[in-house]
Amino acid sequence: MKLTLRIWRQASPEAKGKMQSYTLDDVEPDMSFLEMLDVLNEKLVLDGKDPVSFDHDCREGICGSCGMVINGNAHGPQQYTTTCQLHMRHFNDGDTIDIEPWRARAFPVVKDLVVDRSAFDEIIKSGGYISVNTGSAPEAHAIPVDKVSADDAFDAATCIGCGACVAACPNGSSMLFTAAKVTHLGLLPQGQPERQTRAINMLAKQDELDFGGCTNVGACHEVCPKGIPLASIAQLNHDVLGATLAGARSD
Ligand code: SF4
Ligand code: FES
Repeated sequence: MKLTLRIWRQASPEAKGKMQSYTLDDVEPDMSFLEMLDVLNEKLVLDGKDPVSFDHDCREGICGSCGMVINGNAHGPQQYTTTCQLHMRHFNDGDTIDIEPWRARAFPVVKDLVVDRSAFDEIIKSGGYISVNTGSAPEAHAIPVDKVSADDAFDAATCIGCGACVAACPNGSSMLFTAAKVTHLGLLPQGQPERQTRAINMLAKQDELDFGGCTNVGACHEVCPKGIPLASIAQLNHDVLGATLAGARSD
């Protein structure tokens, strides 16, 4: 396939970025989107030019590193897919493809398609943990967990922290991410001691970090590669309400 790529190039966080056009003549339909960018970068390096910076690690859809806005869609045109798992067969010969970084106030651009997602780490630090006594590993199944809670907690735990939900939200809200973490821990017996302070503190932290508020648009769920349901947000709101009524302190 012959493609025209229009890619956001920005040398540094302070630099002014712009879309830059490149053509590729030999793209195979079975290449992944990142492999296609690898081909472009090899060409740029051989030409003595600066390769396009983008985040990636596992390339298997599990680490959450990759992510870019492709033709206006976070992670591209295919639902429930990370950018690394998107293949070029979803595009046509002669296409022009726009490739941009996540656009959100809380995710400033570092270089080209790389954004700083450390704000997610700050949200996790504010409550995304449980207290455990150290010592030898507990007996398996020592704490019974009912099947429905185990399944729902597991589904929420599949969030890979990619940030697509933030990029897709018109408010730049991290509500789906925070809700996934709160739901994952709050549905398990081990997560009960901090359940109320967790919900209050993680929500307060996301507000403090320049993420927008949730207005129930639902765009986050549409682009989430793991299909985290909007019900997680309801669970977060439920926990926040419970904590507020119980007078949980945010400290
Ligand atoms: S909720 Fe979905 S889109 Fe948001 S960070 Fe987690 S996996 Fe990515
Ligand atoms: S590189 Fe790990 S999820 Fe895409």
